[in-house]
Amino acid sequence: MRVLIVHAHHEPKSFNAAMTDTAVRTLRAAGHEVVVSDLYAQGFDPVSDRRNFTTVADAAVLKQQAEEALASAEGGFAPELAAEIEKLDWCDVLILQFPIWWLGPPAILKGWIDRVFAVGVAYGGGRWFDRGRLKGKRAMCAVTVGGGADVYSDRGVYGAIKNILYPLHRGVFAFTGLEVVEPFVVYAPNRIDAAERAAWLARYEHRLLDLDGAPKIPGPDMAEFDGLVRRR
Ligand SMILES: Cc1cc2nc3c(=O)[nH]c(=O)nc-3n(C[C@H](O)[C@H](O)[C@H](O)COP(=O)(O)O)c2cc1C
Repeated sequence: MRVLIVHAHHEPKSFNAAMTDTAVRTLRAAGHEVVVSDLYAQGFDPVSDRRNFTTVADAAVLKQQAEEALASAEGGFAPELAAEIEKLDWCDVLILQFPIWWLGPPAILKGWIDRVFAVGVAYGGGRWFDRGRLKGKRAMCAVTVGGGADVYSDRGVYGAIKNILYPLHRGVFAFTGLEVVEPFVVYAPNRIDAAERAAWLARYEHRLLDLDGAPKIPGPDMAEFDGLVRRR
């Protein structure tokens, strides 16, 4: 299996970095191919604008999706973006590795999605959800949060973690046809001791080696929909 890990953390000594290191080591030892996009180390620019493109569909008004469609058809993505798109095309499994910041992904990762999941690459031409362009691939969020599991339970102040990750699971992964693997969530890694951190990493190894067996979050059954609205 070919795995792309998009790593969004600025500190090599962070728990997120330990998770990515664990994933690279574990997956390669099991015979899988792994590529890491280390966004901070690459200096990845999360700002999406005309610099995404070498082609121009309309020089007067910037319509990102129209520019993406043209760039997809004519090979007009900027080199650093084309390189990320190539990795996305290449992989069978996409892992987004990030800390929860303000109940969402860090801006550098959101920007990676905004720029890389382009029309003609990830969706477009009526291809979304069960006919999405990325169908056949899988995706998983591997995340850390500052709060404990109780804070992210139904009774916690933020509610269930699955609701916080819904924009990624439904709006990005399912929308583009990716099969959604249940997220791997590490709670409060900075408030546990070394033994507990090691135990979390061991659990993560097991998850990585059993992505087939891991629970999946089903996308919408589009047979029940007219367009994007469920039939009554
Ligand atoms: C800008 C910023 C925003 C944060 N927002 C949240 C948040 O909304 N909820 C939360 O539980 N923790 C939040 N945290 C804490 C981080 O999630 C936590 O420190 C991180 O997951 C720990 O992993 P690390 O050591 O690999 O960074 C935030 C941290 C930063 C720097």
